[in-house]
Amino acid sequence: MKNAPIIGCMRWGVWGNNFTTEQYETIIYQCLSIGLNEFDHADIYGHYTTEADFGKALNHNSSLRTQLKLITKCGIQMLTPNRPAHEIKSYNTSAAHIEASVNQSLQNLQTDYIDTLLIHRPDILLNPIEVAEIITKLKKAGKIKSFGVSNFSTSQVNLLEKYIKVDAHQVEISVTNIDAYHNGVLDQCQTQNIKAQAWSPWGGGLFTENTEQHKRILETTKILAEKYNTGMNEILLSFLYTHPVKITPVIGTTQFERIKQAKDAMHIDLTTEDFYKLVCASTGKEVA
Ligand SMILES: NC(=O)c1ccc[n+]([C@@H]2O[C@H](COP(=O)([O-])OP(=O)(O)OC[C@H]3O[C@@H](n4cnc5c(N)ncnc54)[C@H](OP(=O)(O)O)[C@@H]3O)[C@@H](O)[C@H]2O)c1
Repeated sequence: MKNAPIIGCMRWGVWGNNFTTEQYETIIYQCLSIGLNEFDHADIYGHYTTEADFGKALNHNSSLRTQLKLITKCGIQMLTPNRPAHEIKSYNTSAAHIEASVNQSLQNLQTDYIDTLLIHRPDILLNPIEVAEIITKLKKAGKIKSFGVSNFSTSQVNLLEKYIKVDAHQVEISVTNIDAYHNGVLDQCQTQNIKAQAWSPWGGGLFTENTEQHKRILETTKILAEKYNTGMNEILLSFLYTHPVKITPVIGTTQFERIKQAKDAMHIDLTTEDFYKLVCASTGKEVA
């Protein structure tokens, strides 16, 4: 069984299409209509404005919140006029910061609970005991249902797991970036029962930046799309779905047509050779 894609909202606000509340409502209902109900946020998206934009859509429709799941993240402190107290971009995983950030996200999203809270980036100063205590407190208060991390190393996850269960790990994975296939993160997800989520699963700038790697990937993907009688977006996500760990892609499109393509990717089973054709297109060389 493959996991349905998570819908990333990073480009829905001022960092992308700057949807109106009506457009938020439309795309949320379109996602629900095809069975996609999990949405990915972070406190910082849109310079701390996108959660609140999404929250307005939830507030307009009282029954909507119960139909969907919300992920959000905290731990990055951005340099922006919206946070004038920040002198530089930095990380903060203190209990006080996590608690304040969760309370702010709840207010922005106009909800009583967050389904999954992720620590956005590994913080050099992260104290796992302090994080475990505040996450336990937030769970007991019903403010968060589950907890995870993003962009951590395997040893950083192990350190946290000594004190608190890590339910999800969100890392970059796509044909353009296959590091997680080799660095142990996905092995750890499998052995420690952590949900693996892939951000930028379409490679972020794959379609816009014309690098040699991108040219190889697009050429191979086009051939495979013809072979499987599908589109390139579907092939790119089927590359993630082939991995046995059951990766959940966190897609970043602002177009409903492409959201549907992401769902359709769940029905494609690449052959082993075709999977490795994409690996070779990514690395530019044969496997050893
Ligand atoms: N945890 C983290 O540190 C982290 C970091 C980055 C992102 N994220 C999460 O991951 C989500 C996805 O990230 P992402 O947006 O970078 O990833 P992505 O899904 O790989 O890329 C989406 C971008 O690719 C474009 N695109 C897709 N298919 C295309 C095609 N066939 N032709 C032209 N353009 C195409 C989309 O444009 P259209 O909108 O026009 O379709 C959009 O700009 C974010 O929304 C966020 O929730 C998490």
